[in-house]
Order: sequence, then C-alpha cells, then structure tokens
Amino acid sequence: MNAGSAQSIPYWNTLAKIWAAAVGAFNPVEGIRARAMTVQGWISGDDSREIVRTALSLGENPTIVEVGVFLGRSVAMLAGARSMRGSGKVHCVDPFDCSGEEYSMPFYRAELQASGASTVETAFLGNVKRLKLEAWIQVHKGTSSDIARRWTAPIDLLMLDADHSPDGALAIFEEWEPFLKPGGMLILPNTKVGKKTPGHDGNRRIVDETLRAPRFVEVRSVLSVTFARKAA
Ligand SMILES: C[S@@+](CC[C@H](N)C(=O)[O-])C[C@H]1O[C@@H](n2cnc3c(N)ncnc32)[C@H](O)[C@@H]1O
Repeated sequence: MNAGSAQSIPYWNTLAKIWAAAVGAFNPVEGIRARAMTVQGWISGDDSREIVRTALSLGENPTIVEVGVFLGRSVAMLAGARSMRGSGKVHCVDPFDCSGEEYSMPFYRAELQASGASTVETAFLGNVKRLKLEAWIQVHKGTSSDIARRWTAPIDLLMLDADHSPDGALAIFEEWEPFLKPGGMLILPNTKVGKKTPGHDGNRRIVDETLRAPRFVEVRSVLSVTFARKAA
C-alpha cells in the first residue's frame, strides 16, 4: 500500500490485536482494557480500568449482570477480566434496538451506522466472537423489565448502563438491586459530578439520592463511573 493511503479496517484490527497482546503480557488490566477499546463505546479512561479491576477482584464463579450492553465495550471489560480469572458469567441484557431515552437514541443510531453492522445484535455478537469471549457471556435479549421479571439468581456484580432518564434509570435500579447480594458491587456509568444533562441524569440522581450508608458503602466515583458496595 502506498505511503499516506488509507489502511483497511482489518489492518487496524490486526494492529490493535498485536498492541493489546503486547500490553497485556506486562499488565493484565491494560491488556483487557486495550482489547475493550477496540469496541465502540464511551467509557475509556481510568473508569474503564476500575471496571476491569472490579471484575478481576470478584471471587470464584461470580454472577455478573450488565443491563445495557450496546456494542459490548463494557462487556469486553467485564468478560475479559473473568476470562483471565477463569470463572464467572456476564449476563448481557439489551433489546439491541437502539432504544432508550430521547437524548441517547441519535448517538446509538450513529454508532451503529459507524460500526458498519446492520443491527446492534450482529455488531455485539461479532465483537464478542472477535475477542473470544463467547464462553464468558450469556445474552438475554429484551428490555430490563422483560428480563428482570423472570430473573431469580443472586448477583455479585451489577452494572446498570441502559435507560438514563431519571424515571427509566430508577425503574431499572429498582428492578435489579434486590438481586444484588449483600457485599455485592454496583457500577453506575454516566454519573460524572456536575454533569447533569436534563433527561439523561438518571444514574447521577441515584448516586445522589440512594447510594449512601447504611444501604451502600465504599461509594466512590472514577471519572464518569460510580462504584459502590451493597452493605453486607
Ligand atoms: C449507553 S448504552 C450502553 C453502553 C455499554 N455499556 C458500553 O459500555 O458500551 C445503553 C444501551 O442500553 C440499551 N437500553 C436502553 N433502554 C433499555 C432498557 N430499558 N433495558 C435494557 N436496555 C436498554 C440501549 O438501547 C443501549 O444499547
């Protein structure tokens, strides 16, 4: 290929793979994160590193649920960590239809178009396969309430990144939080302090109004993401 000409997507994917393998050999958190960054999404800084560390820190065979997985960037962080630990399952809840609150839907549609895939589900499954994470995930296609209605298992780590409207985020929190084990970890993205886009600040409101002792402990934010432990 001539110098200065555009390189193909497979070329960049191969380079990204080599880079992730080289980094991962020296630093597992950076390796998992580097692979996750090959998936389109929004969480990218120290918050992504903390998600990886949190998933790595869980005990044997944990049940992880992420509500709102989109193209799979954070799934790559969670499942990548569990693949390295050798046990656990990441349950992935999403209708895969670019739905959500008013504010976010145009962004979802734009990202899907940029991915080149025809559906969110195809893109998500393609990313999971490319990253060799199939054995570490289980897909639950549907809205939060559809899936929560049939859910029974206690959860070790719960990440809620779906509908970000105040009413939508609160409904999802109330659907899933009862399944979180005492001592289990909760992860809420899109909670940056001071960033309150009206209609898109549902998780931030949960942090401000609900994530406090005695119900939650060890509440801390890293960039755009809040981490908390449900009191034991
Ligand atoms: C912000 S994106 C998730 C990003 C993903 N966690 C990542 O790191 O790349 C939100 C996703 O949740 C989905 N969603 C919106 N409302 C939902 C609901 N009520 N139940 C489940 N998923 C929902 C959206 O369609 C979208 O796929």
